[in-house]
This record gives sequence, structure tokens and C-alpha cells, in this order.
Amino acid sequence: MMRTAVRSLPPEKSTAKLVVLPMFEDKERFRAAATRLQRLAGIMPPQVTSKVFTGKRGQTVLVPSTRRNEQLILGLGMGTVTALTREVLRKTGAAAVSSAISVKAGTIACVEPGSELEGGELPAEALTTEEIAQSLAEGALLAAYRFDKYQTRNADERFAPAEFMMLAASAGRAAALARGAECAGVFLARDLANIPGNDLFPDVLAREARALGRHPRVTVTVFDEKKIARLGMGGLIGVAQGSAHAPRFIILEYTPRKTPKKARTVVLVGKGVTFDSGGISIKPSANMGEMKMDMSGAAAVLGTIQVASAQHLPVHLVGLIPAAENLPGSRALKPGDILKHLNGMTSEIENTDAEGRLILADALVYAGRFSPDLVIDLATLTGAVVVALGHFTTGMLGTADDAMRQMEEAGRRTYERVWQLPLFEEYERLIKSDVADVRNTGGRWAGAITAALFLKKFTGTYPWVHLDIAGTAIVEEPSEYIQKGGSGVGVRLLVDFLHHWNNQ
Ligand code: BES
Ligand code: MN
Ligand code: ZN
Repeated sequence: MMRTAVRSLPPEKSTAKLVVLPMFEDKERFRAAATRLQRLAGIMPPQVTSKVFTGKRGQTVLVPSTRRNEQLILGLGMGTVTALTREVLRKTGAAAVSSAISVKAGTIACVEPGSELEGGELPAEALTTEEIAQSLAEGALLAAYRFDKYQTRNADERFAPAEFMMLAASAGRAAALARGAECAGVFLARDLANIPGNDLFPDVLAREARALGRHPRVTVTVFDEKKIARLGMGGLIGVAQGSAHAPRFIILEYTPRKTPKKARTVVLVGKGVTFDSGGISIKPSANMGEMKMDMSGAAAVLGTIQVASAQHLPVHLVGLIPAAENLPGSRALKPGDILKHLNGMTSEIENTDAEGRLILADALVYAGRFSPDLVIDLATLTGAVVVALGHFTTGMLGTADDAMRQMEEAGRRTYERVWQLPLFEEYERLIKSDVADVRNTGGRWAGAITAALFLKKFTGTYPWVHLDIAGTAIVEEPSEYIQKGGSGVGVRLLVDFLHHWNNQ
């Protein structure tokens, strides 16, 4: 991972290969910034004099320095001061890194917006210096992620900057560097999602989880197929039985150091379908390969627990991952089958492609054993949520109204935004079964809701939040700091939520 650092150093003194100057478009501020740009580059770039570059958000001007050999100066349009948000800053950090990659600059020095070096303070209602530094570092780190372990040729074409240095009026900003731990959690989640299905089976996911046991205050337990069957997790057994690769049930536990009050318990449940072919109700072949990422919920849980340990989060966290591969082998689950879940409830299988809810049902029942204050599940659960919300918003449903409000706030801060969908009781008849307690599909309409209502039947009495990340976990079109492939969604959201969660 790229190194990040904060130093108190004027940009003129920096020897970085790429020096980045954020430039706001507000008149006075822009004029001062342009003078600085000229000082740094040794010339006034014509884009500035001709007003092609005016500091609007997204505009850039890249000039070689005539003062320092092999140094490039990048002016980055920031928009207006009043429109500055965490997300603008993340995108600023990301733009700096993208430029560095395209010109193969190994070291980046970026003037901190809102510091003396840039143009002085920002309006009082704006972000704190900590938040500014954090968001900038976060965007830079996330943008530098690449998944290239499987590319064995032309390694020289792939370039990764080694260092992102923030130049501030004063050093410190220790918390900015803490973003490193968070981004490492995102990278773990992205890597796991991106690993192809032929290298990530349920037992491999379990091994990856076990590796987290090396982190301070994290313990890991893995149930094998025999134990899963003996316990009575019929959903997990049923989904896995069409594959030669046996299921696993993974339990992680992070216990914080002594906190003043007794730490509250949050159980995180992640869907861990290592590949979803649909089973006997097989999916069409177009884009089926994306279903290697059907364990993105599990990946988010692992990433979050890693960050919790690194940041000493004062919450007792339990991670539960039902892991299975959904294939149409000769012993596969069939439409018409009836399964018995961990709580004794039965479900009728109408479609074997609605497998996520079957394995999550057992995990949600198991979650009750920890007497949790809150349970949050993350799952690439339905195509329907992608139809409803597309790729920029996670669907949220559940019974914990207060926690859901706070989740929305965490979503706005991290930009991993969530939007609540209803669980009105009228929808429940859609999943009624004539032969079992519940049916695993609810027909054509409101698929994200009927899937969540299925899960709700297994949640018992604890407060519960369900996050359907089918649209947000898998990225088709890359954006500033999210590459094509697994997005690692959920890690930053949950870490932010858990830091702020106030359970009255
Ligand atoms: N893993 C899929 C959902 C999915 C779809 C994730 C697209 C990411 C992108 C899930 O297991 C599934 O197949 N759901 C079915 C349910 C249906 C059969 C009731 C769906 O949404 O089509
Ligand atoms: Mn499916
Ligand atoms: Zn699935």
C-alpha cells in the first residue's frame, strides 16, 4: 500500500515528482493560487491566463516545473469553498493519484486544502482540518488500489506511486494516517471479491478468515460440513450440496480492551456465496462471471473486523459468515425441495437461485446466541435492488429504526450511501408457502422487499439492519477511487457507523 504522511513544508521546498496544488475557483483565492502555481512551475501556465482553467471542480492543469528537474506541478480545480465536502476531497486525493500514475510519478506531495499553504482557513461550518486530511488521504489511497495478481506479463506497464505526502502548515494530523488501516480493510474486501471462483472456495474463505486471527483481540472459529449439519443449518447444507466444495460456517470475534461501560455487542452477518451459478435454476451465461463476487458481504465483514482490531473500536463485534458455492451438481437442491433451518422453520424452494436468503437464515438464527444489541447483515442478495437503486445506493431494510437513521448518516459521511425500503406487512403474503413455513421467492415485484421479509422471519427479537449491496458491491463503471470489480463497499460504512453509534 502507498505510504501516507503529513509534513509541514512549503510546496516550493518539496522534491516530490508530482506536486499538487488544489485551487478553489473563488476569485481572490484563485488569484493567489495562480500566483503560487506560477511560482512552483516557474512559468504561468497558458491555461490559466486564457481562463481555460478557472478552478472549477474536475479541471486540471499539469505543467513541468522549470525550477526543479523532472518535477511536475498539477493544479487541481476544487470548485467553490462553500461547496467543499468530504467527497470532493476524496476525489481530489484520487485525482492526484490518477495523474501520478499516468505520468509515472512515484512520489506525490499535495498541498492541504484549507491550510495556510493553500489559501488559509475555510468557513467555520466547513470540515475540520482532521476531516480534510482524512478524506484527502482516503481518496488517494483508495484510488491507488489495483488487482493485478493474475496479470503475469507487462509488469512494467503497471505503475504504483510509493508515497502520498500532505503538505500542511503544521504536521500532526495523526488521525489522517489512521485512514491507512481503514483502506487496508477495504483492500482486503476488494481482493477477496476479485479473486476468481476457482481460487476462492468456502474453505479458502475460511482460511482467509483464520488469518485475521493473527490480529490483536480477534479470534476465529470455523465449522465444517459435519458440524453445520449436526447443528441443523439446513439452508447452508442445502445450498452447498450441489457443489463438490463443502460449506463452512465462519465465526469471528473481536473483543475490545476494557472500556468504561460494558461494551455492546454487534453481530455482522455476511453472505459468503463464493460462486453463484443459480444452481438448478441456472442463471443465463451473460455476466455470470460477476457472481464470483457473491461473497462481497462476507468480504465486508472480514474487512470491518480487521479495521476494528487496528483501530481498537470500543464495540464487541461478532462476524458470522455462511460460506457455500451454489452449483447444479447431481446432489443439488431442486425446486420443490423443502429445507429445515436452524430454528426448525421450513422453507420451500421455488428457485434455487434465491440461495442467499437460505444460508443467511441459519446465520441470523445463530446470531441470536450472542444476545446482540444489534445485528447487521450485508448481502449481494437481489437483482431487484439493482433495478430499484442502481449502482450508487445500497438498499436498507430492517427493524432497528434508530440504527437505520444512524446508518444513513454514516452513508452520507462515507458516501457509501444507503436508502431505506419498507417492510410493510402486506408484502408478506407474497412469500407464503402452501407446503412449508415460508417460500424462498416472492414473485416478480418488490424482490428486494420480499427477500428481506424472508430474512426477517429468522431474526428473532434483536434489532436488525439488512443491507442489500447487490448493486454497490460490484462495479461495472469505475469512478474516481473505485476501480472496476469489487468495490469493498460496507467496510468504510460500518467502521464509520460503529465509531458514531449511539445506542440509547
Ligand atoms: N446473487 C444474486 C443477486 C445478485 C444479482 C447480486 C445481481 C449481484 C448482482 C442472488 O443470489 C440471486 O440470484 N437473486 C435472485 C433471486 C430471485 C431468484 C428471487 C435475483 O435477484 O434474480
Ligand atoms: Mn442466486
Ligand atoms: Zn447469490
